[in-house]
Amino acid sequence: MNLKYILAIESSCDDCAVAILDTRGKILSDQIYSQIELYSQFGGIVPEIASRLHLEKIAFLIKKTINDSNIKLSEINLVAVTDQPGLIGSLLIGVQFAKGFSQGLQIPLIKINHIEGHLFAGYGELDFPTTAFIGLIASGGHSSIYYCNSNDEIELLGQTRDDAAGEALDKIGRLLGFNYPAGIEIDRCAQFGNPYRFHFPIAFKSEDSLEFSFSGLKTAAKDMIEQNRTRFNNQDIADFCASLQFIISKTLLTKAKLACEKYNTKTLVIGGGVAANSRLRLDVKQLTEMGFSVYIPPKLQCTDNASMIGRAAIRRLDKSKI
Ligand code: KG4
Ligand code: ZN
Repeated sequence: MNLKYILAIESSCDDCAVAILDTRGKILSDQIYSQIELYSQFGGIVPEIASRLHLEKIAFLIKKTINDSNIKLSEINLVAVTDQPGLIGSLLIGVQFAKGFSQGLQIPLIKINHIEGHLFAGYGELDFPTTAFIGLIASGGHSSIYYCNSNDEIELLGQTRDDAAGEALDKIGRLLGFNYPAGIEIDRCAQFGNPYRFHFPIAFKSEDSLEFSFSGLKTAAKDMIEQNRTRFNNQDIADFCASLQFIISKTLLTKAKLACEKYNTKTLVIGGGVAANSRLRLDVKQLTEMGFSVYIPPKLQCTDNASMIGRAAIRRLDKSKI
């Protein structure tokens, strides 16, 4: 395909995101309309409101993204859109818009899985792996480990049996009185805290399993908050947040390392909103010191965005997987 520019759309959850990329994955414009502020009063996403807001904003956002990228509409010759998994109403808006765009301009459409987007958010970057690697995706909806082999096939090795890492952070943060999504606020608060003060359980610690479970951690955190609610001062909360993200980072990275050992690779890709966490990004350095090569996108490309969908589409084209 004689590709020039790609329009990428991501609307699987609460972020309406649109990007324009060139064939090498260079991002010309990357826009996000976030609905987050709206949901703080509800403590989580309201699917009906999310889909209506996507519908309200998407046309304007696409127009703005194309204008900002200084290209002509006629130069776009591929549309990439997230088609699963996610909130069905929200996904539908992005997919229907993408279909209309593709039919109107008579250009092809590639449907991309959201997790595939997170896995390949860095595709085309100089330091993104070109060989087999283990992928760790930790977000609000997923905590999973994948093996991407040298034939570019992706195999799911393990995932959470209950809550995702980000989901646990959001739910615990809500009990602390933080706005949704609480992960970023926990991260901010943890900067001043002692990560070794509170002790949380790690599920499947001694097992050879590549699965996660964060519900025990959530219950332990809930009990601690309830027992100490009136006594927790600001330093206690900072210590609590630091200890919480310390254990989540340790859990995620221990399993990712185990997967690398099992699949005989030292190449690791990490993605998803929780990969924006400062503690996890710091702990990754311990892996690199052990000789691991770890690709972790810049913070803004860890959380949901459309350029990751565009890059996953470019990868599919490169590998002729469409
Ligand atoms: O990938 P993402 O934007 O959406 C999903 O696909 O779910 O991830 C959102 C999740 C939320 O749970 C949010 O609290 C968490 O990522 N998150 C963070 C940070 N930034 C976002 N968790 C910890 N530290 C952060 N800095
Ligand atoms: Zn995501």
